[in-house]
Amino acid sequence: MATIAAGPEAASTIRRVERLITGEETEDGAGVRLRRLIGTPALSDLDPFLLMDEFRSDEAADYIAGFPEHPHRGFETVTYMLAGRMRHGDNQGNKGLLTAGSVQWMTAGRGIVHSEMPEQEEGLIWGFQIWINLPAAEKMTAPRYQDIPPEDIPVVEEAGVRVKVIAGSFGGVAGPVAAKATEPRFFDISLPRGAGFEESLPAQHTAFLYVIEGQVQLLSGGHVPARRLAVLGPGDRISISAREEPARFLLIAGRPLKETVSRLGPFVMNTPQEIRDAIDDFRAGRF
Ligand code: CO
Repeated sequence: MATIAAGPEAASTIRRVERLITGEETEDGAGVRLRRLIGTPALSDLDPFLLMDEFRSDEAADYIAGFPEHPHRGFETVTYMLAGRMRHGDNQGNKGLLTAGSVQWMTAGRGIVHSEMPEQEEGLIWGFQIWINLPAAEKMTAPRYQDIPPEDIPVVEEAGVRVKVIAGSFGGVAGPVAAKATEPRFFDISLPRGAGFEESLPAQHTAFLYVIEGQVQLLSGGHVPARRLAVLGPGDRISISAREEPARFLLIAGRPLKETVSRLGPFVMNTPQEIRDAIDDFRAGRF
């Protein structure tokens, strides 16, 4: 088995699958159909990850209404497009077109008002949005926005295994996105049949994977089919292979903040009073 490995081979504990999550079909924005994987009654959050949505449809009626102007405060949003085009605009003057393979990393900080609208009237639109919490000390930071085109996302390729490095580093190659407090890892990994992926991950990081295509096996036991999110248990290393068929999956990890979370819709703060302040500030036009 060809296995690509960048981490040290020291004695370690391999992470296991702790829970398999199917997610919930729901609607958000002005009526976009999506599947919510994190941020549901079954999995309210996975500290520091507050939400994960997959939107995937080739029916315009499922996405055409988009996400018109709405606010955010207190966290970061990461949008990763696999297919289709989305137009972003915000009240800080940022504009961007997200195309297939691109990433948008937005730090809402003390407040941003933005819209995310499909830039197409037919065909497939497919992507993910993930919310990553900010620590109390950074919740009121200035908003920031990064549009990362596909050509700026490095790919580590070895023995047919492809690792797109969106955040964190793999094999000495650093991705374009960094967040100080949560030190996220965000890899899009493609394995040919019979190949494997091994990597060390900080033991304190929360980690999960989401299988986009095919199915994967974990060396520690356990099997994750397509369109399932697997929450990984404790350990400092992961070892994943595609025994039966080629597979593609997202591996995402981050350092938990271990702070109290008070959330209401697009606002995620530490206390209910801070949520009331966010609503007041938004209504008064202070975002
Ligand atoms: Co938004």
